[in-house]
Formats: sequence, structure tokens, C-alpha cells
Amino acid sequence: MGPDYLAAHPVLASLQGRDFLTLRDFSPEEIQALVDLACELKRLQKEGKPHRLLPGKTLAMLFYKSSTRTRISFEVGIYQLGGHAVVLNANELQLGRGETIEDTARVLSRFVDGLMIRTFAQRDVELLAEYADIPIINGLTDLYHPCQVLADLQTIYERFGALKGLKVTYIGDGNNMAHSLAIGCVKMGMETVICTPPDYKPLPEVIAYVERLAAETGGSIALQDDPLEAAAGAHVLYTDVWVSMGQEEEAARRRAAFAGFQINGETLARADRSAIVLHCLPAHRGEEITDEVMDGPQSAVFDEAENRLHAQKALMAALMR
Ligand code: CP
Ligand code: NVA
Repeated sequence: MGPDYLAAHPVLASLQGRDFLTLRDFSPEEIQALVDLACELKRLQKEGKPHRLLPGKTLAMLFYKSSTRTRISFEVGIYQLGGHAVVLNANELQLGRGETIEDTARVLSRFVDGLMIRTFAQRDVELLAEYADIPIINGLTDLYHPCQVLADLQTIYERFGALKGLKVTYIGDGNNMAHSLAIGCVKMGMETVICTPPDYKPLPEVIAYVERLAAETGGSIALQDDPLEAAAGAHVLYTDVWVSMGQEEEAARRRAAFAGFQINGETLARADRSAIVLHCLPAHRGEEITDEVMDGPQSAVFDEAENRLHAQKALMAALMR
């Protein structure tokens, strides 16, 4: 597979030069095309077949928060596509001394072919995109984590051969993961349940958007607060940490509020017999998920982590070619 493949693809070709700030900006057809490309790139990589879709291209990655999977999957991914990565810690750039995001966006556009950023405010990612001439990729904000959900959809699609009609239940905090998962799953026509303590629901604005979306896609969204009820018949059980990056000071209050919102053997027993368990990782074992489930036969969390590599390669290839 070479760069001509993408140029000739009716859906992927139109993604060239686009930003990836939230899954809201992508149609179900575009998301499916990215998932399909991710599966194909995975196959080529496993078979040792060349797929240098981005020869000579450079991706910059800008981090305001820690990362294992995102950083490594993008860095290894661009290398496997024939390109190169520059990893930047925001505090070591002039950004940390007051240079504006707008000027940084303009300068980086002169050096590199794409920029992935992991930060706090979604507005900062939008600002970068407004001022940069290159594709901007959201590698996690307080509001969204769309790259993770591409890999999650790929993992579900691999296991079940379909997305539409499956039931996905997320149990935990109504955070960035819950927002992006709800958007991605409802876009793909899935039955989506977000189960949180009453004080930790997803943002009403995101839910209102997802409700409107469900009417178009045939998917559905429900907010619940009883984990066992929410898990009933689910094909996918999903969880994330109770304390996200930047919320460390709230840790004690959150641990108390989320007690009971754990994926354990009892929760899994309520799900469909074919159910898989996903977690974006890193996990806090013994809090949102037990060892028994995470290391059990229905856990797909490490395939999911691996798929970050393949999904990110698909994304970079489509946007940055
Ligand atoms: N899931 C995820 O984004 O992992 P990292 O924080 O390690 O990048
Ligand atoms: N909700 C978590 C996801 C980490 C990948 C966080 O923002 O820290």
C-alpha cells in the first residue's frame, strides 16, 4: 500500500488536511473508513508488508499532561509510515514562558506536517487549529479523547464484525472518555449507556448533542446510575479512572463517590455472554476494575491498547498525506 491508495479512496481522500479535534466533526462513513484503514494497516504490519503512506513527513507532539500509549503509538506509528516525530514538552517550549498559542501554531506550521496536542482546555486545541495551516490532532483534553475512541471502535469491530446495534455500557466518571465514547458509539448506530453517580454525569451539552445525533443514526443514548442494571445485556463494558489527570486534589472525594461503580465479576455476569471489557488505560486496578476482570478471558484491554497504534496510523495517513 502506498500514498496513491488514499488518494483513490472515495472517503479517505476527503480527509486530507482536516483537523481531528472531536468526533463530532466526522461522519459515520468517515469514521468507518478510518476503522477499516486501521484494520488494513494492522494486517500489513503483522505480515511485514510495506505501507509507507507518509514518506518524509514530520509530526510534532505537544504534551501538557503525561502519556504512555498516545505518545508511543503516534511516535512508532509515524515512523512505520515512513515519517518522523518530534516530541515536545510544553513547559520546555517558549509557550511555557508566555509565547501565544496563535504564534506557536503559525511557527510550527512552517516546520512540520501535523501536530498532535494533549492538554487541558479544548479551546486551546481549537485555537491551534484556527491559526495553524497543518492538521491538528486532539490527543486528549479535559473534554474529549477522540483518538482513543477510534481504537476502541476498531477493537469492537474486530471482535464483533459490526458496530451498529451493539450495546455499549460505560461505567464510571462522565469525563472526557465518556463524552467521546458516547459520540463515537451513537454516531455508529450503537445502543449507548453511560452509568455514573448522579453528581458525575457527562456534560448536558454533550448529551443534548448525542440525543440529536441518535435520531439521525439509529443509535441511542441513556444515562443511568445503577451499574448492574446498566450492564445488563451489554456487548461491551467500558470503564476509565475515577480521578483524571488534573483532578488529583479531588481524589479522596471521588474515590468515595465512585465506590460501587466498578467493573467486577458481578457486573460482567450481567453482560451478554459474548461481552468484551474495554478500558482506555492506565487502570487503577481494584478501583474502577478488578484484576479478575482485567486479566480475565473477556478482557480486550491490551488489544485495545495495541489498536492505538493502528488507529493513529490510519488517522495520520488520512489527514497528513
Ligand atoms: N489511553 C491513553 O490515552 O493512554 P496514555 O495516557 O498513556 O496516552
Ligand atoms: N480520563 C483519563 C483518561 C486517560 C487516558 C484522564 O483524562 O486522565
